[in-house]
Amino acid sequence: MSGEEVVRLGIIGIGNIGTAHANSVYGGHVPGTVLTALCDSDPARARELQELYPDVAVFEDAEELFASGTVDAVVIATPHYSHPTLAIRAFESGLHVLSEKPIGVSCAKAREMVAAAKASGKRFAVMFNQRTNKLFIRARELVQGGALGELKRSVWIITNWYRKQSYYDSGNWRATWSGEGGGVLMNQAPHNLDLWQWICGMPVQVQASCDVGKYHDIEVEDDATLFVRYENGATGVFITSTGDYPGTNRLEITGTRGKIVIEGGTLTLQTLSVDERTYCFGTDPEKPTWETAVIEDEKINGHRAVLANFARSIRYGDALIARGEEGLNELTLCNAAYLSAWTGESVSLPMDDEAYQAALEERVRTGRKAQLSKSRSTHNGEYLARWNTNW
Ligand SMILES: NC(=O)c1ccc[n+]([C@@H]2O[C@H](COP(=O)([O-])OP(=O)(O)OC[C@H]3O[C@@H](n4cnc5c(N)ncnc54)[C@H](O)[C@@H]3O)[C@@H](O)[C@H]2O)c1
Repeated sequence: MSGEEVVRLGIIGIGNIGTAHANSVYGGHVPGTVLTALCDSDPARARELQELYPDVAVFEDAEELFASGTVDAVVIATPHYSHPTLAIRAFESGLHVLSEKPIGVSCAKAREMVAAAKASGKRFAVMFNQRTNKLFIRARELVQGGALGELKRSVWIITNWYRKQSYYDSGNWRATWSGEGGGVLMNQAPHNLDLWQWICGMPVQVQASCDVGKYHDIEVEDDATLFVRYENGATGVFITSTGDYPGTNRLEITGTRGKIVIEGGTLTLQTLSVDERTYCFGTDPEKPTWETAVIEDEKINGHRAVLANFARSIRYGDALIARGEEGLNELTLCNAAYLSAWTGESVSLPMDDEAYQAALEERVRTGRKAQLSKSRSTHNGEYLARWNTNW
């Protein structure tokens, strides 16, 4: 495709977020794209779509969309289990793919989609819209660029993913092992798990406690705490919940040269005059001083930024904000946390994906049965504030 041509986009799964993406593209808010196809397996929704977007091709079956020749690329916004299956078929049909997060429910299946993407040579992106947030970008530069020295500790309390019971009741795929494959770690926290590893790197060991149905009538966890260890001996704690109100969003990263705290829409950086390790073993009686810098957040629509970047990567070869295979990292943290909670033991990374797959399938077999054919949530296409970075 030459840069002059616009990307003909199709969207699969026109529920909450799929409708928001459709409206963004249809409304002309995503440069370099045109909405040419929509697909929803719910016949009633497909009929509505025909009326709402009269000049767009509408399909009930993704296979028909893939074979239609109406699109260059697809955005997959269906429930998580179907992301790998649909993406693999899209790649086999010669299409570029932007998958909603998480890229799948288990690493074993997600690796198959990564392999299909490689074999196709097409672009594979994942919707990690919070990677466009200025504060997280800066934190990554500081940690990866060495400004904080050696990592000592990272602590993220991300408990402002509050959900009412009515949210869980709104779509019957939600909060079941068979329909969703997990709870807060699988649905809400993927953004934070991704940012955590994007900024601090992947740990080598994960230990977790996941409380099932602690605050809601659900069979998966709505409260989780991870304790991780990095290769250099640094430690990390990640606490998330959909049951805390008011919640907290506070990321604190400590290194030998200073500290970052991101909270309330502000990044505060304290940089030491001397590395703490040097001071600790040195003879200087004066404690190091520090300089403080403060950066404020800016509100941007991260979803549209990721969609536009996906189109530019297809047209001009731009680097993707989040490459599809990077979605494996947060999924590994999530899967490892579940395995640790189920076995009561810490999990070393890389983990045994097949062992996890088998343990998940056992939960699916014995858990509640989600009716995926009736999966649609109630929605009106409005862009929900909860999808942004919230402070
Ligand atoms: N990036 C974000 O900020 C963000 C926000 C919300 C949701 N999401 C992700 O988007 C996905 C969808 O979530 P949602 O809240 O929009 O769900 P939803 O239940 O509101 O919508 C899902 C839609 O997909 C349709 N569908 C199901 N299987 C299908 C298939 N095989 N082919 C075609 N259509 C199919 C359903 O009929 C429904 O209309 C999830 O993976 C979720 O994690 C991401």
